Amino acid sequence: MSADLQTVVHDAAEVVVGKREGAWPGEGSELLETYADAAVAVVDGEVAAVGPTEDVLREYPAENADSAYDATGQTVVPGFVDPHTHAAFAGDRSDEFEAKLKGKTYQDILADGGGILRTVRAVREASEADLASNLREHLDAMLAYGSTTVEVKSGYGLDTETELKLLSAVETVAEDHAVDVVPTFMGAHAVPEGMDADAYVDAVVDEQLPAVDDQGVAEYCDVFCEEGVFSVEQSRRVLEAGKEAGLTPKVHAEELAHVGGTKLAAEVGATSADHLLHATREDVDALVDADVVPVVLPGTAFGLGADYADAETMLDAGAPVAVATDFNPNCHSRSMAFAQALCCVEMRMTPAQALVAATEHAALAVDRPAKGRLDAGSPADMAIVDAPSHVHVPYRFGEDVVAATFKDGARVA
Ligand code: NIG
Ligand code: FE
Repeated sequence: MSADLQTVVHDAAEVVVGKREGAWPGEGSELLETYADAAVAVVDGEVAAVGPTEDVLREYPAENADSAYDATGQTVVPGFVDPHTHAAFAGDRSDEFEAKLKGKTYQDILADGGGILRTVRAVREASEADLASNLREHLDAMLAYGSTTVEVKSGYGLDTETELKLLSAVETVAEDHAVDVVPTFMGAHAVPEGMDADAYVDAVVDEQLPAVDDQGVAEYCDVFCEEGVFSVEQSRRVLEAGKEAGLTPKVHAEELAHVGGTKLAAEVGATSADHLLHATREDVDALVDADVVPVVLPGTAFGLGADYADAETMLDAGAPVAVATDFNPNCHSRSMAFAQALCCVEMRMTPAQALVAATEHAALAVDRPAKGRLDAGSPADMAIVDAPSHVHVPYRFGEDVVAATFKDGARVA
């Protein structure tokens, strides 16, 4: 029975399976299905059994496993899913961090040709190999911090050649990296210097999207629907053309101002609407009605010193709130544990809610519904937290709380 037993993680202080059916948004630990003194057995990359250590080891003895991990005093949670990153880039914008501390705004920096536009210049100059090597380094760090699935956007090319170069670098890294990578095309990330937004939308629709479709790497099409960037109507054109090229919509919505990106996300059938710092109750209801996952990115608000998204309203509406790092040169955080700490401290979510947001809801935000839980039959993607319960993930903010990461049952960090 246990001949092909790959891995047994045993004697964990706690194993978190996922949220209890019907319990969201529930308070505290009643939200979660957990076991104390527990183990996980893995066969062929999938969870074969989860439960009290004694029960699991009776059926799957540790000595029969290719590898056994003693998790005494530790907690096993589903591998984090990071559903929104801009992790494929080149260059360094740490000086902008200092400028922001002195009072410059994100928009000031962009208007001066900095911000996204500066990263675009660096990416246009970088080789594909350099872009791949930078991305690999970031994914290595994310894996060590417990993320096993990561969405990665293009969007620092803003021309056909460079957008394809970015997506090709993403594809190369995805082929052999332990992290499951979800690729997103985001040609409509900013208006390139010297161009008008309508003309650039024409270029995205008529040139970039057909080329991206031919190259066949991307799964999603995202757009920065924002005051001074792309209007709702321009964003709609991009997302509809993306759908024709087989790409599912995602939207950067209501980040710096309220312009209507949330309703657009609901209208075009997006998988997620992200940021939402200025979303209203009506916007949130529209997302819920259309089955669009709201993704909050509290690291961005932290880095900008801005107000946070209104998670309370989202929870009150029963929305399946997800959280992501938004890792990018403006928000240099690769840690989903830190994002969860911000969910708790700044958005008043409970540690259990933040964990669900970082695992199974985040998996919904990239349409990977099999991930983010540890039921029998789930992919055995696990983060082992070096502490006795899931509450310690946000409680120990600023520390690397992940002792080991398993992907499809194999230890990868
Ligand atoms: O999600 N808002 C647009 N895009 C990114 C920032 C990218 C950048 O500044 O390089 C975001 O925050
Ligand atoms: Fe973003």
